[in-house]
Amino acid sequence: MAADRYAVMGYPISHSRSPVIHHLFARQSGQNMQYDRIEVQPARLEKAVRQFQRDGGKGLNITVPHKSEVTKLVDHLTERASTAGAVNTLTFRDEEIFGDNTDGFGLLRDLVVNLGVTVEDADILVFGAGGATRGIIGPLLEMQPKSLCIANRSLSKARPLAEYFSHSGPVTCCRFNAVPKEQQYDLIINATSAGLRGEVPPFPDSAVAENTVCYDLAYGLKPTPFTIWGREQGAAQSVLGWGMLVEQAAESFRIWRGVRPDTAAVLAELPVSA
Ligand code: ATR
Repeated sequence: MAADRYAVMGYPISHSRSPVIHHLFARQSGQNMQYDRIEVQPARLEKAVRQFQRDGGKGLNITVPHKSEVTKLVDHLTERASTAGAVNTLTFRDEEIFGDNTDGFGLLRDLVVNLGVTVEDADILVFGAGGATRGIIGPLLEMQPKSLCIANRSLSKARPLAEYFSHSGPVTCCRFNAVPKEQQYDLIINATSAGLRGEVPPFPDSAVAENTVCYDLAYGLKPTPFTIWGREQGAAQSVLGWGMLVEQAAESFRIWRGVRPDTAAVLAELPVSA
């Protein structure tokens, strides 16, 4: 029987590790599936998605820069995708498109299950106020932290985001240079895209204590300016987002195939760096 077809669409896409991860999941669980990378320019997104659907594709992961735009193509959106304002998982069934977002779930699972972080009652600081931040705030607030502060270069994006989530938990926002000096955080998450361009925002040194966990949503083969900063400030852990990557993929795989993969085995096979 022909393998069921899946893919990840993004622009650029050559760096994506999703095919490796999904092929490891498929091998592990004996699923007959193929998973490709498809580079799609923003203007061609709708055409590419509909073509994939017409060709009998079963599901897609959607990544940067399409996660927000693709919500317009979805017939049925899950609540978590709607809250995130973004979709990273499409499922094609009965000529309809189902959209979900597994990023926040993946982050929380990595934090809580893999890294042993207690989010409940924690003081959390999130750097950045873009799409990546919007995707993780809802799931973080569900764990009932004591406080969550969104720190950003400018307030123009941070303020509407803090207001949007204010009914769901104790969210505040400020500029990097206005993070309260007397406050230390249990968890600091970097959701800016600064590192991708080799830029280093003015992270507030006073925010880190010896029990702080610093977590970069980005992943790569080298430490990022943020994880280096966290380590230099003496954080208990300062890690890249490899675990989130694998856990969000596992949740997509579960949605598509009804099987939850063993993520620890797959993480152990990746060239994970901290
Ligand atoms: P994403 O979907 O990855 O979150 P985005 O929506 O473009 O991408 O958001 C990028 C975030 O990184 C923004 O919060 C941005 O700050 P601004 O709102 O001030 O633009 C932040 N960012 C990008 N480059 C940065 C830099 N050099 N220093 C500080 N913050 C930066």
